[in-house]
Amino acid sequence: MILVTGAAGALGMLVAERLADRDDTVLGTREPQRLKAPLPVRQIDFDEPGTLAGGFEAVEVLLLISAGYGEDDTVTARHGAAIDAAEKAGVGHVVYTSLTTDGDHLPYALPHRWTERRLQASTMDWTILRNGLYAELLGGLAAPSADGRITAPLGEGRLAAVARADLADAAARVTLEASAHAGRVYELVGEQAIGGADLARAHGPHVTYEPETLAQARTRIAASGAEPFQVPMLVGTYSAIASGFMSRTGSDLRQLLGRAPHSPLAAALA
Ligand SMILES: NC(=O)c1ccc[n+]([C@@H]2O[C@H](COP(=O)([O-])OP(=O)(O)OC[C@H]3O[C@@H](n4cnc5c(N)ncnc54)[C@H](OP(=O)(O)O)[C@@H]3O)[C@@H](O)[C@H]2O)c1
Repeated sequence: MILVTGAAGALGMLVAERLADRDDTVLGTREPQRLKAPLPVRQIDFDEPGTLAGGFEAVEVLLLISAGYGEDDTVTARHGAAIDAAEKAGVGHVVYTSLTTDGDHLPYALPHRWTERRLQASTMDWTILRNGLYAELLGGLAAPSADGRITAPLGEGRLAAVARADLADAAARVTLEASAHAGRVYELVGEQAIGGADLARAHGPHVTYEPETLAQARTRIAASGAEPFQVPMLVGTYSAIASGFMSRTGSDLRQLLGRAPHSPLAAALA
């Protein structure tokens, strides 16, 4: 049996759509009653280890979608609890949605790398999907204001952004053929790097790109009601892109999909 965690999240829902006609797949989410899904649903909450023993029962392949919102110790505790419970329940293979290697400079990289090490030291087979940053995320971080200005502090930096739907396709494909991907680490970045000027052009002639500084962005984000951990998360994302660390493209995604990835600009603007 296959279990997909985080099924109410944006990525989890896309994966669930792709596996909807399977009779060997169940979904896991913190609040099953809120999920309208064509597949059976189990309660899986990494913060509530009591849900995990039963939740992982009879599961052979687990798609572990990262639960990455929180301080590092919160996230590592979640993922650690999930992997401990999967081992105890006799899960055979874990597919984990991680973060691209070039994301090592991002403030939220550490829990991903911790989870990868924990999985690699586990008794189970594993596959690591090192996901690039979503084009949709970039579209939100660099959205034009009402007066048509993109002020995101991206400088001249570009991001090898990926449409979330492509990452869902890749995750579903790998999960269905997990044994063929055992012990593999995939770099799922896009094939085209895009930045603030590209986004402004794609929006149309009424939009301009006038990047602010990181200090201005930090003040703006802190004043927006963001959680304390989110401020360095977002500023660090801008900084890594602006500094050119996130622009490297790759071909693993095309190889797993068996087709060209979707346009990141279209996904960012959608
Ligand atoms: N590559 C990128 O650009 C990027 C951007 C943002 C986030 N991420 C990471 O990728 C993951 C999936 O992205 P997304 O777009 O689907 O994010 P999302 O829509 O915000 O969903 C958050 C996900 O975290 C799960 N989660 C949170 N707390 C949990 C807990 N205690 N136990 C189990 N699951 C928990 C949620 O599961 P349920 O709601 O179903 O319980 C949901 O799947 C995120 O959680 C984050 O780690 C990647």
